[in-house]
Amino acid sequence: MPLADPAHPLAAVTHAAPYAYYRRLAEGPPLRFDAQLDCWLATGMAGVRAVLEHPDCRVRPVSQPVPDTLAGTPCGAIFMELVRMNDGERHAVPKQVLAQALGQVDLARLQAQTLQMASDHVPASAAQLNDALFQLPLFAMADLLGFAPAQWPALAARTRDFVACLSPLSNVAQLAGAQEAADALLQGFSRLLREVDALPGSLLAAIVTEAEAPGWHAAGSLLANLVGLLSQTCEATAGMLGNAIVALRTQPALHAQMRAAPQSWPAILREVSRHDPAIHNTRRYTAEDVDIDGVRVAAGQMIVVVLASACHDAGAHAEPDVLQRPGSPMLATPGFGHGRHGCPGQSIAHAIAAACMQAWADGLEGLPLAWTYRPSLNARIPIFSQGARS
Ligand code: HEM
Repeated sequence: MPLADPAHPLAAVTHAAPYAYYRRLAEGPPLRFDAQLDCWLATGMAGVRAVLEHPDCRVRPVSQPVPDTLAGTPCGAIFMELVRMNDGERHAVPKQVLAQALGQVDLARLQAQTLQMASDHVPASAAQLNDALFQLPLFAMADLLGFAPAQWPALAARTRDFVACLSPLSNVAQLAGAQEAADALLQGFSRLLREVDALPGSLLAAIVTEAEAPGWHAAGSLLANLVGLLSQTCEATAGMLGNAIVALRTQPALHAQMRAAPQSWPAILREVSRHDPAIHNTRRYTAEDVDIDGVRVAAGQMIVVVLASACHDAGAHAEPDVLQRPGSPMLATPGFGHGRHGCPGQSIAHAIAAACMQAWADGLEGLPLAWTYRPSLNARIPIFSQGARS
């Protein structure tokens, strides 16, 4: 029996089979008010692009740059500096510096090093897999930044604790853990920054060099955005990896194809990110009255930008339900955002995840896996358990 549709786009994120629903959302008006969620929805390629490109659609409400639960805390201090959470001047220079430094990363070397790392950590059970989805991408980023291997496990654990502050679903204990983690991460990056001269060729050294020309010297802002690189990697890359493992399970021919052409992993991961994206939505807040294609949204409104509906927009992709195979022209990946806040870490995420999949695919083949999804309002991250999928 077909599953009932998700009740709304936030419920679709963790629904077992949400993509026919997303496709129908894309067929409707690009911008509409949702009475149930009491906010606006931007859907389909047109709605998503229009809102993400609009200068008055901001990442935070003008009156509340930091959520009340974080104001005056270590997490709040990081949050208020993140490029991801700012617009205008506070966004432009740090974003340019990060994008330039991330753009210089030697992806072939990153992939080779992560392949080595992932080959040393092939998950042998569902529980190990659940941990590895988060750990390996964070180990790879920690390595790239310049941290020593002995520091990676603590950094990965602290990053997972820290990202709890970004979810409205976190409880009091998780929020307290996030504050401790924020302090520890800031201290870790402060120490690393003091050693940056001894880390030539690291991503940290590239960021420090790139920051000199535009004069981005604010230590708090730099530190916060370094933490941001780990936090942006954490859940999204775990989701992409998990969804790629789901693709191997649900598309029986894929495994043999990838075994025959492992160099196609980055390309197929781009398509997994379109077909079963890790990040299903993001939010924008109108700073002024906004008119998009004749629809007026008053200042101060929230818009849920349904990225996953753009990924399954039949007007943009000929067969949105089909995972295009290696060799087919790969489609656009709205799952990485668009416009001035679009993800600068996309190629890095693909290189890391490609290495993990290459290292793990064969070993995972014999493991009986079932899955559900971690509770989340925006990230689709499988939780695996031992057993056959029902
Ligand atoms: C599969 C993995 C990833 C996915 C699906 C993903 C997705 C996204 C999305 C959707 C946004 C835009 C959010 C918005 O506009 O509201 C974003 C922004 C961002 N991502 Fe990623 N990301 C991934 C991995 C990474 C990695 C590995 C890094 C770091 C190397 C990274 C760094 C960033 C940063 C710094 C931003 C903020 C950009 C800005 O606001 O200007 N991401 N990401």
